[in-house]
Amino acid sequence: MQNLSFGPLSQRDQKVIWHPFTQHQIEPQSIAIQSGKGALLFDENGNEIIDAISSWWVSIHGHGNEYLAQKIYEQAIQLEQVIFAGFTHPQAIKLSERLLKKLPNTAEKLFFSDNGSTAVEVAIKMALQYFFNIGQPEKRKILAFEDAYHGDTFGAMSLGAPSSFNAPFQDMLFEVDFLPSPTEPEKCLEVFKEKMNNADNYAAFIFEPLIQGAGGMKMYSPDLLNDLIQLSKSKQIFTIADEIMTGFGRTGKFFAIDYLNQKPDIICMSKGLTGGMMAMGITSCSNQVFEAFLSNDRSKTLFHSHSFTGNPLACAAANASLDLFENENIFEKIEKINHSHQNWKNKIQQNQNFKNIRILGTIIALELTTNEKSGYLNSKRDLIYTHCLQNGVLLRPLGNTIYILPPFVIQQKELNKIYQVIEEIPMN
Ligand SMILES: Cc1ncc(COP(=O)(O)O)c(C=O)c1O
Repeated sequence: MQNLSFGPLSQRDQKVIWHPFTQHQIEPQSIAIQSGKGALLFDENGNEIIDAISSWWVSIHGHGNEYLAQKIYEQAIQLEQVIFAGFTHPQAIKLSERLLKKLPNTAEKLFFSDNGSTAVEVAIKMALQYFFNIGQPEKRKILAFEDAYHGDTFGAMSLGAPSSFNAPFQDMLFEVDFLPSPTEPEKCLEVFKEKMNNADNYAAFIFEPLIQGAGGMKMYSPDLLNDLIQLSKSKQIFTIADEIMTGFGRTGKFFAIDYLNQKPDIICMSKGLTGGMMAMGITSCSNQVFEAFLSNDRSKTLFHSHSFTGNPLACAAANASLDLFENENIFEKIEKINHSHQNWKNKIQQNQNFKNIRILGTIIALELTTNEKSGYLNSKRDLIYTHCLQNGVLLRPLGNTIYILPPFVIQQKELNKIYQVIEEIPMN
């Protein structure tokens, strides 16, 4: 057991920085990380912390990957940034060609942005403006799942289920129809079918495929999605897969939608896209969508961009990450993690402290048994977080939901330590 480790850097940080998703009144100072290697982070006092959540689900190849770093360096001395309107560059072209080979054939054009939320904003704008451009502006509403999370910008917040996250802005968010939880597939399908009586109002249906991340690591069946995508297509409603957490091997296949027979029209990517090295978002769409923006009338343009759109360093990182997928046995590592999770699940299946143990690819999630309602504001959250950190493991429970979402390079002994630390969470 080590004390939470704060040093001079943490003190300096506290004076000048407002951290994300942090209640500074009650949470301790931020731990200053000096370096990282593989699944490990090293703080300013030399303590070792296992990054069991890939630093907010991005670092798929772990920290300090020399190949990725080298490729970013080589790109930086060649071309670090160039305006992406009216100009392009080889890394973006190469990346687009490679990604399109991995995406379903509904993906024919890629639009670049900066992060997950912006990839979602672009997806929604594509769908809404498509109908505007073709003269069907009444198709305006969006469908999403209960417990959905799609990001923190205003559009993305609108798509997230009403919650304590977005309560202060609720009246300013645009209208979205929420479907019952996909973990109750029959009810969900029934409500979806009812909504289809007014299908002419809907522009798009957005979902996190097979697992709702921030909403509680809730896993659900591909059959439901196949049905919902098929129904949407029959009513000219665009389907948008938010692969921001699930893409790039996380669920055991390259994309979670690879488990589906029906393929979405629009796909959002970020996080693991650059191997966790650089911030970037990409939204794919079909030529059907793209062509609705072609016109001699400039007002039909997709007026969306960010200063760093298509940044060459981020594209170089993403290309280097794809090299690793091609040249190293990443899927062997993914399978080993999955196997290890299965073994642990078998071991703790009868442990009364845990319930609802579920696995998808490299993700294992479970609930700590408590007297309170499960959910993000469950009071066990802080106890679990602190206990794990004091024992050298970074987990960020969602209330009493504990999950492991490790870098693919994690070692078996590191996984074993994470499991052990979870088993030792004090129950009183
Ligand atoms: C499914 C999903 N969509 C969108 C986002 C938003 O991504 P970002 O934090 O990069 O804006 C997240 C982030 O956790 C996510 O998990």
